[in-house]
Amino acid sequence: MNDTRRQAFHKLLSFFAASPLVQAQKDLEYKPEHLPGVDQMVNVFEFEPLCRYRIPKENYDYIAGGVDNEWTLRRNREAFDRIVIRPRMLVNATNMDLSTTLFGAKVASPILFSPTAGHQLAHPDGELATAKAAASSNTIICLSSNSSYPFEKVAAASEAPKWWQLYPREDDLATRERVERAVASGYKVVVLTVDAPYNSHRERLLRNRVRAQVPSGDPGATASNTRRRRQDPERKPLPYRLEATLVAQWDWTYVSKLKEWAKTPVLIKGILTGEDAALAVKHGADGIIVSNHGGRYLEYAPSTIEVLPEIVQAVNAKFPVLIDSGFRRGTDILKALAMGASAVMLGRPVLWGLGAFGQPGIEKVYQLLETELALAMALCGKANLRQLDKSLIRSDR
Ligand code: GLV
Repeated sequence: MNDTRRQAFHKLLSFFAASPLVQAQKDLEYKPEHLPGVDQMVNVFEFEPLCRYRIPKENYDYIAGGVDNEWTLRRNREAFDRIVIRPRMLVNATNMDLSTTLFGAKVASPILFSPTAGHQLAHPDGELATAKAAASSNTIICLSSNSSYPFEKVAAASEAPKWWQLYPREDDLATRERVERAVASGYKVVVLTVDAPYNSHRERLLRNRVRAQVPSGDPGATASNTRRRRQDPERKPLPYRLEATLVAQWDWTYVSKLKEWAKTPVLIKGILTGEDAALAVKHGADGIIVSNHGGRYLEYAPSTIEVLPEIVQAVNAKFPVLIDSGFRRGTDILKALAMGASAVMLGRPVLWGLGAFGQPGIEKVYQLLETELALAMALCGKANLRQLDKSLIRSDR
């Protein structure tokens, strides 16, 4: 980066870092000739201001926003600072191997793409680009049921191993039909999100007068109009009210019903306690994803890394426990793996990469994190994932 570009970029970063909540509401003065290229990105955080610069404000707010005061959103990051790493020395770690196998798919590393809604909010190529980036990164994409493109089209766009996330909002017959169609089009695992039975209070959306985050109907079946989150045409304030997103019968028996329809492994996403992890096992789930939905549903939900130990303790050591919400560094990922996670999933960083540079941006985000993880492992004397365990970390506070 030449000096002017570097200065402009760093000015932008410090501007952004000062107070994300307040700054997110302001416009950036950022000149096209000063934008860095994808090869100049040094870490994952640097993608966010560029993504923000490139996309409409209400789209950025939708991606960035958490619930209420965004306490959980912040805690997802702060909690990593309370865990230190205990490296071991004079161990030969010359042959690094980060690969792992998840539900039959061998992947380059335990870093996967989490389901996030409407990728056309970030880029016109939307999930088609994300799926292609998953293939070239040799990882798994979990497609949201609120994707901008129909799931069949995304399935056809890429050879990546694909999972599909479900919000059961309709009657059983319609949900079953949708699940069967997704599985028939190539999705190998169905992920049931359980932490969003009501829409949450997202103040950035209310301020922008943008409609609810989980629309009713079947946006996964037709290309939706997510290219730009629509503002209320009359720009009247939106009512703040209880808005249920589910009409399906909703309790733990839903898991066995879904397994019967899907005939694939079923993962439960949104688990935050040992008790619910044990219930997921009891009701036949094939794995869980520890998640607080990126700080977007229940305010004062804990960060996921702080509840991971109690969850790992509540299940059998072989039961797959995946995790997302707030992972931005290779060392974050290393901490979760050492605590017993089978894999880590990325939400916003994928959208930042997509918004900043399209498919190559996602590939770069993935490559940066994979390299950071490999380096952190190597510096700890760990050459592969089997060598990671909780002796590698210590809670600081
Ligand atoms: C949807 O899952 C959202 O968090 O907006």
